[in-house]
Amino acid sequence: TRISASLIDPDGGKLVELFVKESEKQSKLQQALSLPKIRLSKIDLQWVHVLSEGWASPLKGFMRESEFLQTLHFNSLRLEDGSVVNMSVPIVLAIDDAQKNRIGPFTSVALVDEKDDLVAILSKIEIYKHNKEERIARTWGTTAPGLPYVEEAITGAGNWLIGGDLEVINPIKYNDDLDRFRLSPAQLRDEFERRNTDAVFAFQLRNPVHNGHALLMTDTRRHLLELGYKNPVLLLHPLGGYTKADDVPLSWRMRQHEKVLEDGVLDPETTVVSIFPSPMHYAGPTEVQWHAKARINAGANFYIVGRDPAGMSHPIEKRDLYDADHGRKVLTMAPGLERLNILPFKVAAYDKSQGKMAFFDPSRAQDFLFISGTKMRTLAKNRENPPDGFMCPGGWKVLVEYYDSLAPA
Ligand code: ADX
Repeated sequence: TRISASLIDPDGGKLVELFVKESEKQSKLQQALSLPKIRLSKIDLQWVHVLSEGWASPLKGFMRESEFLQTLHFNSLRLEDGSVVNMSVPIVLAIDDAQKNRIGPFTSVALVDEKDDLVAILSKIEIYKHNKEERIARTWGTTAPGLPYVEEAITGAGNWLIGGDLEVINPIKYNDDLDRFRLSPAQLRDEFERRNTDAVFAFQLRNPVHNGHALLMTDTRRHLLELGYKNPVLLLHPLGGYTKADDVPLSWRMRQHEKVLEDGVLDPETTVVSIFPSPMHYAGPTEVQWHAKARINAGANFYIVGRDPAGMSHPIEKRDLYDADHGRKVLTMAPGLERLNILPFKVAAYDKSQGKMAFFDPSRAQDFLFISGTKMRTLAKNRENPPDGFMCPGGWKVLVEYYDSLAPA
């Protein structure tokens, strides 16, 4: 018997996939020749990727105004049958005045990449105002200057948003030797069924895996086995889209993750490593909802969350932008995520008394060492080693190599 018949349903009941049928490709290419063109930025293209594979199911394209407003104001979308799905970050396409004028009376547009090749057609379009300040304030909870995604993708973007139904010509590929790790939600679901799993627990990350992260994952597996699940599978799911300049690039993180599995910190037998194609917002409690919701669509029914998910330092003040506990708290209460089992974790730190990463115990705070991202970077840059038990040696070596590759010759 296949227990896996019980994979969690995608949001909206059916997984959305927005690819043009092979038999219709020629006519779509033909149709596109007569349409106004919108050139997609790198980040726009990552969102096309996300939408096309159904990570944002049941969303069928870039948001129209009603979806944009519900996202900003309710962090959720109401479906026709009255049910609610979570949707916390706007997935929108910005255009400027000139582009809006060129579109004029057209009801569809052609989306092209940087080489002018057709990527997709957006139809039944709706153009509405891009109130950037309101979007930024509601998504990030601040309009402080220097927010990475904002600087990269919003500040200089046009004053209009264009929504519509998306039809993608070919699956998005990056030809960077990592495409084999970019499994779509449908492919992940197939993989989980093939593995006959009865519980999929997802771990979102954008950083190298240290033993504190690993502790959350191994603890979860133990917990699920105790609950009676027979074959829990970990989805180790690094974010693959836009990240800020001082984060470790995806290709190096993938090499690091490979070592973590090779060194046995995580068990390859019960782990699926794949890349989540979304860009990163660094919008804390708002964004962690998106991270969780997207994993439902990929078949995960358990979601791990720890300290300060999707967090970062305040861009101009000397403090973190978000309360480190809020992401975890919000996730357990978020509209439309009721079906997802949230596994909240306390902060893990280096326990000097045991020489390993452990959950922080405030009653003996003096035993613990917090190794921040900045501290880790400084150690790796100076080719120093972190304390034994912080990260597996193979994984650490990859980081040292990465920072070496940055050093001026
Ligand atoms: S994130 O932007 O993807 O959330 P990161 O890669 O740092 O950032 O974290 C991945 C996950 O691990 C998140 O759920 C985060 O809360 C959790 N996490 C990171 N560091 C710790 C820690 N020291 N203790 C507990 N949880 C942590």
